[in-house]
Amino acid sequence: MTTFPEHFLWGGAIAANQVEGAFDADHKGLSTADLLPHGILNPHQEKAERTPGIKDLAIDFYHRYPEDIALMAEMGFSCFRLSIAWTRIFPQGDEAEPNEAGLAFYDRIFDELAKYNIQPMVTLSHYEMPYGLVEKFGGWQSREVIALFERYAKTVFTRYADKVKLWLTFNEINMSLHAPFTGVGLPESASEQAIYQAIHYQLVASAKAVQLCHEIVPDGKIGNMLLGAMTYPLTCQPDDVIAAMHENNQWLFFGDVQARGRYPGYMLRYFRDQGIRIDMAPGDLETLAAASVDFISFSYYASACASADPKQKEVGNIVASVSNPYLEKSEWGWQIDPKGLRVILNFLYDRYQKPLFIVENGLGAKDELNAAGEIIDDYRIAYLKAHLIQAREAVLDGVELMGYTSWGPIDLVSNSTAEMSKRYGFIYVDRDDHGEGTLTRKRKKSFYWYQDVIRTHGASLD
Ligand code: BG6
Repeated sequence: MTTFPEHFLWGGAIAANQVEGAFDADHKGLSTADLLPHGILNPHQEKAERTPGIKDLAIDFYHRYPEDIALMAEMGFSCFRLSIAWTRIFPQGDEAEPNEAGLAFYDRIFDELAKYNIQPMVTLSHYEMPYGLVEKFGGWQSREVIALFERYAKTVFTRYADKVKLWLTFNEINMSLHAPFTGVGLPESASEQAIYQAIHYQLVASAKAVQLCHEIVPDGKIGNMLLGAMTYPLTCQPDDVIAAMHENNQWLFFGDVQARGRYPGYMLRYFRDQGIRIDMAPGDLETLAAASVDFISFSYYASACASADPKQKEVGNIVASVSNPYLEKSEWGWQIDPKGLRVILNFLYDRYQKPLFIVENGLGAKDELNAAGEIIDDYRIAYLKAHLIQAREAVLDGVELMGYTSWGPIDLVSNSTAEMSKRYGFIYVDRDDHGEGTLTRKRKKSFYWYQDVIRTHGASLD
């Protein structure tokens, strides 16, 4: 017997800047993502003199989306998570009127998805903002950006009210602490004071988007999006337990504000201890309190450990953490922990008592074509299968789970390193790290495996 809920949504997730290409087509403006040709781990080119990079064409989803969506439909997707590039709609971020060509592009995408009864889930801002707003206002460090984001959100809610019912505000909103240019348009050298101030404005903007969605989109639901950075104590030594509590609070803080509508006490204490002062205008706290998200969404790739001993800390992918001696690592050093997915699902559900949505999960791995030209990606199947089994366990534990969208159902450009060779897809894209390749799409073994999982509503996992 399958235990996934009857209306559980199955699908995959992508982000505009990692798939679309066409970075300057149809009046699109430059985004912060366009200024990171080597990925967010190598942010040394966050300047106006842009150098070309692999994302400029990415996988050319901008032109090839009908073929790609047909392949998603062939796998049986009922949901497809994508983001709108803010710079296609407001190229510089502060125009009075939106760019019609950009709006029309997403109309075409949503219409294509509707043909196959695939529900879009749209992220308003997935790791990008108009670079024009960085130049003019210094990114989210200015309160003025709130109103400009509201204008953008209102524009897309109004335009797509009948086509898109599921929305997310900011992708992995907690990442600004580690990648400030990507998250809030601040230089990597920005102080904690400046970053938390920008985050405050972004949280207010997120709350305003929640309110707008409720006003404009009939039957719309809007969630937040967290990087699920589940951290265990390295040992049962109480100091390690406290260290893990602090690490977890760093990301839960965002969920607490977005779901509970107020700054948690541990954060106010942190601000006091660090001498951080957040400028709040009258009405900010009311805005936060009035706009709790409808559901909590999160990405989950790995778990981490925390130790009170600073010598234990290693450099991780973007966030430094301590290795778990019981877990294996992916080729990119991410610790694989399927049971951690059950833990985080129970943990978040217990904390917020709101429906959850796993909007990213997957294995970045190198794929080789065999002599017959096939890709036998058993490692990817093993990873996804183990995680889905744990998601099902969490459902059995009583967690309300709305759906699962695996990351990168089609190979795309990696966010952290801008590599093509770090592949997540069920669909292979013929393009290498140097931009060579025909862009031809090819079904991998995992394509048929996922198709079966969806067809049987998870029963084939047994
Ligand atoms: C998440 C992001 O952090 O992880 C995605 O929301 C990203 O944009 C994904 O692609 C996987 O990370 P990477 O660095 O392997 O692309």
